[in-house]
Amino acid sequence: MAEETLEIEDLPGVGPSTAEKLREAGYLSVESVATSSPAELAEITEISESTAKKIIKAAREKADIDVFKTGKDIFEQRKEVKKLSFRVPDLNNLMGGGLETQAITEMYGEFGSGKSQIVHQMAVNVQLPEDDGGLNGSVIYLDTENTFRPERIEQMVNGLGINGLDPQDFLKNIHIARAHTSDHQMLLVENSRDLAAELKGSDKPFKLFIIDSLTAHFRAEYAGRGTLATRQQKLNRHMHELFKLIDEHNAVALVTNQVMSNPAVFFGDPTKPIGGNIVGHTATFRIYLRKSKGGKRIARLVDSPNLPEGEAPFIVEEAGLKPC
Ligand SMILES: Nc1ncnc2c1ncn2[C@@H]1O[C@H](COP(=O)(O)OP(=O)(O)O)[C@@H](O)[C@H]1O
Ligand SMILES: [Mg+2]
Repeated sequence: MAEETLEIEDLPGVGPSTAEKLREAGYLSVESVATSSPAELAEITEISESTAKKIIKAAREKADIDVFKTGKDIFEQRKEVKKLSFRVPDLNNLMGGGLETQAITEMYGEFGSGKSQIVHQMAVNVQLPEDDGGLNGSVIYLDTENTFRPERIEQMVNGLGINGLDPQDFLKNIHIARAHTSDHQMLLVENSRDLAAELKGSDKPFKLFIIDSLTAHFRAEYAGRGTLATRQQKLNRHMHELFKLIDEHNAVALVTNQVMSNPAVFFGDPTKPIGGNIVGHTATFRIYLRKSKGGKRIARLVDSPNLPEGEAPFIVEEAGLKPC
């Protein structure tokens, strides 16, 4: 953690022009270089594979990524894990109490399934004291589709049913940036380190990172270009950077991924998004959202390292997420 300031230029064999090429390709940190392959790196930077190998080796030594931890270390770190409440009992039960810190939760579903409503609600809930299900923290919010609405935050704060809350205070603790391209989006995660560090000493430390939508730019930019592997690698690196940040601050990451429903639902798994699952296995938890009868919505936990699969109903009202 003390080596956070190490730049890719500090690696032997990486001059300014190689560094520039690496950054353009989305390698923003020593860690992302450390987890790449020599062939990939050689192609991007037009250096020889043997030089690429040396650079990666140096990055691995500096990045501390090969260090083993004991089960006890992990046990101690997991003791710090907190849960951010949905304030909807069924959703909390589904997620073992709420959204976990030190984990990335991906919500995927069709247009209008409630993804943005949930991220707005969590941007409110996270600011509450722990007794009310929050983490007494602030929010970094990457808005890629211009769907953040301060009015919704206001309505949801008023809809909490807790006296004496001022919606303006909640809006002040949500730090929003628009991301215009996938590269810009990746850079914003990188640049959030300073903001997160600054907030650390405040009365509302950074506790929730939202990306709504995680995948829209990646999908649009790499549509039909036969460059799926590149897209996947960039997305993996993006998620890796995000994970490092939230892991360091014991914060929650909540990202959305819009998918089309699968017409082959009779023949296979209806929760498998059409066009493949582009987030892959980098998210810790995956929640599939769908609309049901009478304005009801269903969240289904699809992938979890420690919780059973299951479903939970909820509704979206003016006042926010509510139990059915
Ligand atoms: N003020 C509101 N009151 C009640 N329901 C709302 C309100 N605003 C949005 N919704 C509901 O949320 C839906 C949009 O969900 P949203 O989270 O934006 O979808 P997406 O999954 O595409 O992000 C709307 O169709 C509507 O049902
Ligand atoms: Mg949305």
